[in-house]
Parts: sequence; C-alpha cells; structure tokens
Amino acid sequence: MQPFLRWAGSKRQIVPTLANYFDENRYERYVEPFAGSACLFFSLKPKKALLGDINGDLIRTYRDVKYRHKDVTDRLRRFRKSKKEFLRRRKTNRRSATRAHKAARFIYLNRCCFNGIYRTNRRGEFNVPYGGKASGAIPRNLRKHAGALRSVVLVSGDFEKVLSRTKCGDFVYIDPPFSVSSRRVFREYDPSQFDFGSIWRLRICLEELAANKVKFLVSYAVCKEAWFLAKGFKTKLVRVRRNVAGFAKHRRYARELLIFN
Ligand SMILES: C[S@@+](CC[C@H](N)C(=O)[O-])C[C@H]1O[C@@H](n2cnc3c(N)ncnc32)[C@H](O)[C@@H]1O
Repeated sequence: MQPFLRWAGSKRQIVPTLANYFDENRYERYVEPFAGSACLFFSLKPKKALLGDINGDLIRTYRDVKYRHKDVTDRLRRFRKSKKEFLRRRKTNRRSATRAHKAARFIYLNRCCFNGIYRTNRRGEFNVPYGGKASGAIPRNLRKHAGALRSVVLVSGDFEKVLSRTKCGDFVYIDPPFSVSSRRVFREYDPSQFDFGSIWRLRICLEELAANKVKFLVSYAVCKEAWFLAKGFKTKLVRVRRNVAGFAKHRRYARELLIFN
C-alpha cells in the first residue's frame, strides 16, 4: 500500500530494501518515531504499531483518518485541484472547523503543494507554494489506510517520547531529518530544527535500544553525523535519488547509510 501523503525526505524509493529488515513473525510491534508519510509502515501493514512525529497536525490527521475516514474523504471530494483553490484553502484555517475538515485540508495542501514539503511561518501558518500539475492526485478513498491504522497507537511529540515506550520484541524504524552541516539540505519540518544536539540525543537512544535488545534500523544521508550514529553498529550503504533539492534539475543520486543492530 502507498502512503496517502507526499513527504519531503520520504524513503519511498528504498522501501523494498528497508522491508527486508522486518520479519512479522519475529517482531511483536512496529515502531516509527519520525513517521512523516510512514511509507514503510503502509507497505508492511504490521498488525501492531506505534507511530510518532513532532508534527502535531500530521498525527491529528492520522487519527482522523483512523476514526472518521469517510467524513474526511467526503470533505476531500469537494476540494478541487487548482492554484486559486489551493491559495484560498492555505489562507483559510478556521479554528472552529470540524476535525474531518481540518484533516481534509491537511491532506489537500500536502498533495497540492511543492514537493510534499511541510513548512510554516513563525505564526504556524502553512506557507509552501502550489506544486502545479506534477504534485499528483488527491486521494478520494482512505478506507484501506484507515484499516492499516486500526491498531496503531499515535503519539505526537519528540522521538524520545516514543522511544521511551519501546521494549524487547519491537522493531524500530528511525528516519530522522538530516542535520548535515556541510551542505544545504531540507530540514524545515518544524520550528525546532534537528541540530547536532538532536543527533547526540538520538545516539544515546540507539545505545539504550541496543542495551535493551530492541531491534532498530536507521536510515541517514552519508555524512559525518551518520557515521557518528553508526559507531559500533552494523551498516550498509544504499543508493537513493534525492527528492528535495528544490528543483528537478538539481535532483541527483546520493548514498544513504542504513544502521542496524
Ligand atoms: C525524513 S522525515 C520522515 C519520512 C518518513 N520516513 C517517510 O517515509 O515519509 C522526518 C520526520 O521527522 C519529524 N521530526 C522532526 N524532528 C522530530 C523530533 N525531534 N521528534 C520526532 N519527529 C521529528 C518531521 O516532522 C518529519 O516528519
């Protein structure tokens, strides 16, 4: 199953490689603390899962798809794909709107914006430009996604909150934003940026997971921060096409490091 959102930094292209690390018979639960579009989760459809992200609107949207997917798609069917409508819906964010409307608006803006980027201004208003025709279709039916989310626990917040709830028998897939100092990369998911301090916190979490015999798989762009995270763990290099570099002519192949225990 494909995710219903487009997400900057999504690992969609390497899902078949990532999926090789998960064996449903071996693990009791799938955990993903940096869920984004959760492309590996939707591809695997594990029976039991815990998904988290610091983006509260994203997690609320997953909750609304889980509990009221019909209401959400009823709303979405009324939304037309055009620059005019996109700019109008981007501007209008009524607090009093129903939950289904808010989730539909989130999905609509995500599907129509430039490159599936999530970025807000200081006032917390979504400010990504219209993506044009290339941004793809708006989902009209979310029944299967709601089914996949049925037994999923959804947590809004920092990755440490999710990782502190893991136990032996879990499989944890960790796909953090890039915090690469040496070149310009996309990392504007949230006002609290993923800096080297966050990499340190993540490194400590990986050591704790390993000590508690919790299996993990991390994917990260090849850079010094990746090797810092990887020290003492197993690694594998994979080739990926970078999706967020601004414009298509700047897209290129790069290497990603998989880190696992
Ligand atoms: C590279 S994206 C994940 C992409 C995802 N694997 C997919 O396939 O779409 C990183 C995600 O981490 C989230 N994030 C950023 N900082 C975070 C933090 N401190 N704790 C939890 N999530 C965070 C962002 O909101 C974003 O959705």
